[in-house]
Amino acid sequence: MAFKKNILCIGAGYVGGPTMAMIAYKCPQHKITVVDINPERIAQWNSDNLPIFEPGLDEIVRAVRGKNLFFSTEVEKSINAADIIFVSVNTPTKTFGVGAGMAADLQYWEKTARQIVKCSDSPKIIVEKSTLPVKTALAMERILISNKSDFHFDVLSNPEFLAEGTAINDLENPDRVLIGSRLTESGLKARNELVDIYANWVPEDQIITSDIWSSELSKLVANAFLAQRISSINAISALCEQTDADITNVARAVGVDSRIGNKFLNASVGFGGSCFKKDILNLVYICRHYGLNEVADYWESVIKINHYQKERFVTNMLGAMFNSLAGKKIALLGFAFKADTGDTRESPAIYIAERLVEERAELIISDPKAIDNAKTDLKHLNNKIKYIEDPYAATDECHAIAIMTEWDLYRTLDYQKIYNSMIKPCFIFDGRNVIEHKRLFEIGFNVYPIGKPAMTHFEHS
Ligand code: NAD
Ligand code: UGA
Repeated sequence: MAFKKNILCIGAGYVGGPTMAMIAYKCPQHKITVVDINPERIAQWNSDNLPIFEPGLDEIVRAVRGKNLFFSTEVEKSINAADIIFVSVNTPTKTFGVGAGMAADLQYWEKTARQIVKCSDSPKIIVEKSTLPVKTALAMERILISNKSDFHFDVLSNPEFLAEGTAINDLENPDRVLIGSRLTESGLKARNELVDIYANWVPEDQIITSDIWSSELSKLVANAFLAQRISSINAISALCEQTDADITNVARAVGVDSRIGNKFLNASVGFGGSCFKKDILNLVYICRHYGLNEVADYWESVIKINHYQKERFVTNMLGAMFNSLAGKKIALLGFAFKADTGDTRESPAIYIAERLVEERAELIISDPKAIDNAKTDLKHLNNKIKYIEDPYAATDECHAIAIMTEWDLYRTLDYQKIYNSMIKPCFIFDGRNVIEHKRLFEIGFNVYPIGKPAMTHFEHS
């Protein structure tokens, strides 16, 4: 069958793979190719063992791979054949030079732009799928135009809003798809082509179009607002712990106000993930660049509270366990940055693990999907940490448990059995408020939730 359009995605990561699988699934009339410079990643996408764990992803990939979805390392050849090119490469925080630790590192992005110019001999639509600083499209256009004047490239911004762990549902039923373009005749025509692709399954009133700069900026702002909600509830959790108020009751009372809404109000050990911190740092950097220091300080405080929450968790553990963790066995249940993913990028568990080792605790790390990533993240400490997937074996003869990830599994463990195998007095620190605190207290644990009074068997001094 002849395909209507050749769509290419450069970057086969957490975004490129699932997003293109969904487009292929919903648009059998188009051919989708996903390329990456990492041959191992491409080999995994072509195998039964996909490079990322995401509920529902295997089924969709299996349904379309080899039909209208292809994974390849042939970046240059694929560029030339494409009508539309999504660019979904990584845009991490810069680690060197001007803007180190704040600005987005755009080297992978720019390399892609130059490669597109080099390998193209027909007009193309280039779609920014990666999260980028506002005004990046201008740089992209300059690179594209400076080298070829005989045909035209249109640059669109189409940021991705999926969350890991729910990516397939988010892609299939998005709250919105955002497409930004230049407001020229050619820009609007390109924008309509992309609208037509999403219109295969997304209701048209949920496909929002705008100017290109608003689209680029909206992605950073959406992540900043989401992270701000978590830092807001986490800041209040600290106050709850001092005042015998309960953060779950506060969140419920606040969240029923329809102007506020009840989602994203779960107090936790802190937010993680590859994007919230990097995107806020990027926003802060851009604000400082424009001399908006008060605005930059405001958003930077979201990250500061997140750091404070992680450190507060360790300090609470230390205080509860008689101010000494040295030589004590502590099991971390969960290492992924959230449930239903094996991703550990910026997971709060990384910082907590490092701090506990600094206090000379003996750590055991358990997680159903993230142990391999944990080993990589903590390779500098591996002689001080054990990795045991089975939660019962991991907690055996431990002094304390700290829950780092809200895996469903941790709600239903046999905590009586775990209690029996632990050293007394037993401590459990629930960094996600997922266990039944009263029941565990009744079993005999000293229980320390987030933002709720601790339940201990000790006499008050
Ligand atoms: P990732 O690191 O999982 O994947 C990026 C891929 O790009 C890697 O496999 C890398 O090898 C490849 N790559 C880099 N340079 C390349 C080049 N020149 N040619 C071909 N391939 C190249 O990253 P990700 O999590 O998929 O994120 C990608 C972008 O999407 C980032 O800007 C991120 O902020 C944004 N984003 C991520 C998420 C998420 O949930 N992870 C959600 C929304 C947006
Ligand atoms: C987030 C956004 O939700 C996506 O819309 C966005 O596309 C993505 O970032 C991105 O740009 O990368 P993600 O990081 O995958 O998605 O996952 P979230 O569900 O947002 O969780 C982020 C972190 O916040 C996790 O550590 C999670 O446990 C924590 N969290 C979330 C809380 O502590 N409390 C909450 O109420 C919600």
